[in-house]
Amino acid sequence: MHVDEFLDPKILIVSGKGGVGKTTVAAALALVAARHGRKVCMAEIDRKGTLPKLFGGGEVTYEPRELSPGVWGLNIIPEDALAEYLRVQYHMSRISRVFRSTHFVDYITTAAPGLKDILVLGKIWYLEQDRDHGGGAHGFDTIIVDAPAAGHMATFLKAPQGLADAVRLGPVRRQSEWLNDMLTDPKRSRVHLVSLAEEIPASETLETSEALDKELGISQGAVFANAVYSRLLMDEEADEFERIAADGKIDELCDVAKASGINLDDDDLGALHGYARFLKARRNIQSQHLRKLSRGVTQPVMELPFLFSAGLALPDIETLADVIEEQMETL
Ligand SMILES: Nc1ncnc2c1ncn2[C@@H]1O[C@H](COP(=O)(O)OP(=O)(O)O)[C@@H](O)[C@H]1O
Ligand SMILES: [Mg+2]
Repeated sequence: MHVDEFLDPKILIVSGKGGVGKTTVAAALALVAARHGRKVCMAEIDRKGTLPKLFGGGEVTYEPRELSPGVWGLNIIPEDALAEYLRVQYHMSRISRVFRSTHFVDYITTAAPGLKDILVLGKIWYLEQDRDHGGGAHGFDTIIVDAPAAGHMATFLKAPQGLADAVRLGPVRRQSEWLNDMLTDPKRSRVHLVSLAEEIPASETLETSEALDKELGISQGAVFANAVYSRLLMDEEADEFERIAADGKIDELCDVAKASGINLDDDDLGALHGYARFLKARRNIQSQHLRKLSRGVTQPVMELPFLFSAGLALPDIETLADVIEEQMETL
């Protein structure tokens, strides 16, 4: 598949259970899009956002900022979105400070659940329509939405429909219909799901995918199976290791290691042996869940490797972007 086709709609929503690597995969997709000449905006919806850490520090606020060449980021906070909405809609700039308070937003969202989601989606709509009411138009080609965790996903995407049903007339009704149109038009929005090759995330991914399809009518791209143990030690190598250890030919291994400048003692070998066994067992489990994912969804499943580094940073995201590009060609 050509990259343009893969990245086609302007809005790419990346969703999955919390902690599966949504922000990481969203950032990798952003790099892929930027490599292909697109001006990308990454929207994180998480007060304790991890975008700044991935892109080497600095603050990410409601005002988009360039994080790396071609990739811009912002953090959508409902209070800021409400203030912008009131300012644009009702020219309420002077009192918007009151509305910007967390208490106020909590108060009204208790009265009208789903309103926070509407406010966030409203900001995405402004970005899509290229209406930035603060710093002027940005002209983003691609907007990557790092969606709230999957349990919340259906509520998040269903919010405009719910509001449209509740409000029968007037501007709010019209606006919620605009949001619903934005989400359900495959030429404008597409959801990519992120999963792990593990029992619970994989089952939830299958459920979410079905709900998107049957209940919400929202178009879906790929399923990313993240953090797969694939590149470090291949099965054949683990088997070989096992054989050498079983034959008691540990000395052989020590000699090979020494030839590469590594001195291994018995403890190191014991740890390595344990690790090889662990990886093999994990990989077997992961393969089962990968099969379950591929059988359960109609869209392509892309495997992303587990990266062994302490705290992922930009070079790791570049690696994941390389893997996505490679796999895109085979789709
Ligand atoms: N492919 C990967 N290999 C290794 N660690 C990963 C990978 N993807 C994500 N992580 C790590 O997992 C944690 C959760 O990732 P993050 O993208 O913040 O998840 P989410 O946004 O879904 O909560 C982070 O510490 C991140 O560095
Ligand atoms: Mg995140």
